[in-house]
Amino acid sequence: MKNTVLTLMEMKNKGEKISQVTCYDYSMARLVDAAGINTILVGDSLGMTMQGYKDTLPVSMDEMIIYGRSVVRGATDAFVIVDMPFMSYQVSVEQAVENAGRIIKETGANAVKLEGGAAVAEHIKAIVDAGIPVCAHIGMTPQSANIFGGFKVQGKGEANAKKVLEDAFIVQKAGAFMCVLECVPPKLAALITKMTQMITIGIGAGAGCSGQVLVSQDLLAMSGDFKPKFVRQFAQVGQLMTEAYRAYDEAVKDGSFPSLEESYVKSDCSDEYLEELEHTHIAEINEGRNNNDQSNDDTGGAGSGPCLEKRGFDCGTGSHDGLSA
Ligand code: KIV
Repeated sequence: MKNTVLTLMEMKNKGEKISQVTCYDYSMARLVDAAGINTILVGDSLGMTMQGYKDTLPVSMDEMIIYGRSVVRGATDAFVIVDMPFMSYQVSVEQAVENAGRIIKETGANAVKLEGGAAVAEHIKAIVDAGIPVCAHIGMTPQSANIFGGFKVQGKGEANAKKVLEDAFIVQKAGAFMCVLECVPPKLAALITKMTQMITIGIGAGAGCSGQVLVSQDLLAMSGDFKPKFVRQFAQVGQLMTEAYRAYDEAVKDGSFPSLEESYVKSDCSDEYLEELEHTHIAEINEGRNNNDQSNDDTGGAGSGPCLEKRGFDCGTGSHDGLSA
């Protein structure tokens, strides 16, 4: 069953935890969906995980749309949220609504996410007024890492804790139905979860949130040596993939791949035909005619199917179905 704003709110109200992972392509989205994950975030973290940048800042609207629509095609039940990239909403409220609309129209996603508290309240309100569900993102907001002087825990100390709590109330009032709390002290995150009606999704914010999100590449141990304190690696998929690629590389190089069973042998040409082909081709080469010299070849070039068929060979072109072994 498709997760919606209503079913997710119901989960929050019943105290059921909500799962979320990032995902950036069709094949991964199908796997995530099959696992029963409630929501997928097409995060602008794809700048790092998929594009190899050092942060999220270079990611563009067009890129979010390409990745977003691939994920939507693979997500049958999961609710899909697409991040609004850096400078796609900060400039003006109009710009924010226009780009949020583009994301929904061009990807088919269910909601957008944007970073910030009070500074983007009007933007959130206008997007929600346009009929688009919004997930807010407060605490550590990676698009503002330059202001924070890096990726640092937010909400430490009384004044900072008050500011994060106020941001939560502001984005809720603006209409956000969900809010990511990133790198917020666990007690503060639990308090925000208790005091607001929004679904809170924690990342590095403790277990007291309505749900949790992790970057897929982190939870699958595909991020090399990068492992923030809050990440749990649920499987060593990165290592497994390297081992699989290594085994494939070896099999290609030692000739054990592909085997006969991995080849379309039944519909192949007969040995007699291949012998004829070899001799005809050698004869034609000896006569000075080859594929590159068609000036005196009215049959389509020596060695081609039509050429040989015209000479009475059975090329088997009618029987090859391309699938059967
Ligand atoms: O871009 C992203 O993946 C995110 C999550 C880490 C919350 O914003």
